[in-house]
Amino acid sequence: MAEKRISIHGQWTNRTVFILAATGSAVGLGNVWKFPYIAGENGGGTFVLVYLLCIALIGIPIMMAEILIGRRGKQSPINTMTALAKEEKRNPGWVWLGWMGVVAGFLILSYYSVIAGWAMSYVFRTAGGMFLGMTADGANSIFSDLVSDPERLLAWHTIFMVMTMIVVARGVKKGLERAVTLLMPLLFGLLVLIVIYSMTTGYFMQGVRFLFTPGPIDGKAILIAMGHAFFTLSLGMGAIMVYGSYLSDEHSITEASILIALADTTVALLAGMAIFPIVFANGLEPGSGPGLIFQTLPIAFGHMQGGTLVGVIFFTLLVFAAWTSAISLIEPAVAYLVENKGVNRIYASVWIGGFTWFVGLGTVFSFNIWEDKTLTIPYLFENLTFFDTLDYLTANIMLPLGGLFIALFAAWVMRKESTQQELKTYPVIYKVWRFLVRYITPVAVIVVFLKAVDAI
Ligand code: TRP
Repeated sequence: MAEKRISIHGQWTNRTVFILAATGSAVGLGNVWKFPYIAGENGGGTFVLVYLLCIALIGIPIMMAEILIGRRGKQSPINTMTALAKEEKRNPGWVWLGWMGVVAGFLILSYYSVIAGWAMSYVFRTAGGMFLGMTADGANSIFSDLVSDPERLLAWHTIFMVMTMIVVARGVKKGLERAVTLLMPLLFGLLVLIVIYSMTTGYFMQGVRFLFTPGPIDGKAILIAMGHAFFTLSLGMGAIMVYGSYLSDEHSITEASILIALADTTVALLAGMAIFPIVFANGLEPGSGPGLIFQTLPIAFGHMQGGTLVGVIFFTLLVFAAWTSAISLIEPAVAYLVENKGVNRIYASVWIGGFTWFVGLGTVFSFNIWEDKTLTIPYLFENLTFFDTLDYLTANIMLPLGGLFIALFAAWVMRKESTQQELKTYPVIYKVWRFLVRYITPVAVIVVFLKAVDAI
C-alpha cells in the first residue's frame, strides 16, 4: 500500500481548476503559432492526420500516465520519480527522467518566451492601427523589421520572462484560475471569428483541403508531427506531472485527459482553418516558417470590420495563453528547488527564470545577428539555427523520449495494482489504457524515431 503523501505546494481547489490549469498549459503558442507553421512546412494533409493519430494513441495515454505518476508521487517530478521507484522497489536511476524534464522545460521556455515577445509587440502594432488595409508584402516587412532588431526582441523577451517569474513565484494556483476560466473561452471565440473572416476570402475550401487532404510524407515530417503532439499537450517533461501532483485523489484522470486533449486539438485546428485561407487568398507560401501567423493574421485584422479591436484582443489573449503555458515549463524545476534546497518560491523562480532568460538570448540572435550560424548533426538535422536546433532537440527528441520512458514506467515498472488504484476507472478503459502504454505507445515512438533517421 502506498504511504499517504500530501503536496507541500498545495492542492487545486477542485477538478475543474486542474483541468483548466492543464488546458492552460496545453493551449499556447504551440496551437496558434507553431501548429500552422509546421503543418505548412510539412505539406498539411498527412502531417495533420499523423498529428491527430499521435494525440489519440500516444498523447492521451501518456497524459494519463503522467498525471497518475504525479498524483501518486505528490512532489516535483524529480522527487516523484525517486519516491515511486523506491515504493515499487525498482532502480533509483529513474530519477534522471525527472532531470531530463527539468532541462527540457527551461530549454523550451528560453525560446518560447522570445516568441511570446513577438505576440506582445503585435498587440501594440495592432493597437496603433498599423494593419489597416494591410497587404501581404506590408505584413511581411513589418515582421522582418521586428525580428531583425535584437534589441526589441530582447526587451519583449525580458518582459515576458519577468511576467512568468512573477506568477511562478506566487505559486501556480493563485492568478491562474481566473485567467484560464475567463480568457480561454474568449480566445476560442476570437479564433472562431477569424475563421468566419477566412470564409469570406473565397479561399476557405482551399485552406481546408490543404489541412485535410493526405499526400506523401517522409520520416522527418512524421517525427515532427509526433513531437508536436507531445509539445502541444505539454507532455514528456513533467509539466503535466507536476500539475497532477496538486490534484486530489478522488478525481478522474481519464476524463480530464480526454477533455484537455480535445480542447487543445480544437484550438489548433481552428487556428489552422483561420490561417490557411488567408495564406492562399494572398498568394503566400504555406511553408514560410515561424513568422506565418504574423504574416497572415494582420491581413485579416486590416480588412475585417472592427479588425483593430479584434486584433488587439486576439494578440493579448495569445500572450495570456503563452503565459499560462510558460508557467508550467519551469514549475517542475521551481518545485524541486523548494523541496530540496529549502529555498522559497521567489528565490527559486528568480534563479531559474534568470538562467532561462540568458539561454533565450541565443534565440533572440537566431533571427538576426546569428541568422547564418547553423548547426548540422548527422542523421538528426541539417543547417538549423540556434532557435531551430533547440526546438528540434526538445520537441522532437527530448519530449518523445521523456514520454516513452514515462509510458514504460507506468506500464512496466509500476505494479498493476498501483496504476489501477490511481486511475480508478472502468475495467475496460483500464485495459485499453494499459495495452496502449505497454505496447502501442513505446513501439510507435521507437518506430517513428527509427524512421526519421532512415533506419527502416
Ligand atoms: N503546450 C504548450 C503549447 O502548446 C507549451 C508547453 C507548456 C509545453 N508546457 C509544456 C510543451 C511542457 C512541452 C512540455 O504552447
